[in-house]
Amino acid sequence: MTNPFAALELRSLRIPNRLWMSPMCTYSAAPEGKLVGAPTDFHLAHYAARAAGGAGLVMVEATGVSPVGRISAWDLGLWNDDQAQVFGRLTSAITEAGAVPAIQLAHAGRKASVDKPWLGGEQLTEDRHGWPTQGPSTVAFPGYSAPSEMSKEDIASVVQDFASAAKRALTAGFKVVEIHAAHGYLLHSFLSPLSNRRTDSYGGDLAGRSRIVIEVIDAVRSVWPPSLPVFLRVSTTDWIDENPDLQDASWTIRDTIELSRAATKHGVDLIDASSGGLVPTPIPRDRDYQTRYAQQLRSNVDAPVAAVGRIDDPSWAAELLEHGHADALFIGRALLRDASWPNNAASALGSDARYLEQYSYAV
Ligand SMILES: Cc1cc2nc3c(=O)[nH]c(=O)nc-3n(C[C@H](O)[C@H](O)[C@H](O)COP(=O)(O)O)c2cc1C
Repeated sequence: MTNPFAALELRSLRIPNRLWMSPMCTYSAAPEGKLVGAPTDFHLAHYAARAAGGAGLVMVEATGVSPVGRISAWDLGLWNDDQAQVFGRLTSAITEAGAVPAIQLAHAGRKASVDKPWLGGEQLTEDRHGWPTQGPSTVAFPGYSAPSEMSKEDIASVVQDFASAAKRALTAGFKVVEIHAAHGYLLHSFLSPLSNRRTDSYGGDLAGRSRIVIEVIDAVRSVWPPSLPVFLRVSTTDWIDENPDLQDASWTIRDTIELSRAATKHGVDLIDASSGGLVPTPIPRDRDYQTRYAQQLRSNVDAPVAAVGRIDDPSWAAELLEHGHADALFIGRALLRDASWPNNAASALGSDARYLEQYSYAV
């Protein structure tokens, strides 16, 4: 039993509370040029405001480990040292405002090469900031072009890209790296039998389909200090497992439990329990649609679990933590609406808000 404002210790890292900013793409980096993929003034103001607003940890949005690993040409990227240097400004701004700086490393796979969502989000061709995509097999995301099937050399180079990006994230001052294995992007597309039709050692049974994820974890852990934690974001279900005919054909909570157990043995310190994104499919509207999967993971895996999804009410957040459904909560859209959501939740729940010293004597 815990409350949202109790600190959480993972390895040697102390995270001051349990209300964290969920990774959310902002499509605001330069698509080309010397500072391609580097944070801009927008990112600095955006993330510093959420840190000042009381989030215990600020997870910077999906950041491409390579140019083709970006979701869009306007994503953040961490494949060169110039980018890492600019990220250093972001980590100091987040740290100075009292939050732990964290970054989500990602490869978008067959869902890459799209336009900004507010411009329609369609997949773009090479003449419009697009590129040919890669995946485990040539199965396309519905409505997108078919990816090319990755060779074993392609897989090895993606694994290495995650490690190199993690190393640069450390240099830039991040204290947590999160491996993005959710939402239908590259790693999730290897996990799910709906998109992975390979017959080599990276396909087939659960161990084969999980192989790339475990290799990425090992590669990241080999460069990430033992004193700092690694998180893994997973989709707990493809949302097809309610249909008994398709159960073996999709990724389910049972698979997620197995993967999470293996991941923790390989050095993952927290499972971030999201869902969906592999195929377009309806998602239930109940308030606990996704947090209930975090709860299931927490009772089946010997590791801390973070819940996410539709957590926008302080008393619901407190209830989830007090009832042990999760160890921490990622807040997404509520933090876009209100950068001070955690501080306002503290006031609503009768706890102390964490104001900057520049504000605290005055408010
Ligand atoms: C604008 C936007 C961008 C997002 N980008 C990412 C991302 O970069 N990485 C990720 O894992 N999830 C991403 N998500 C999902 C959120 O992190 C979160 O899991 C989801 O919005 C559900 O939480 P919420 O109901 O609190 O918003 C994004 C969501 C939104 C709304």
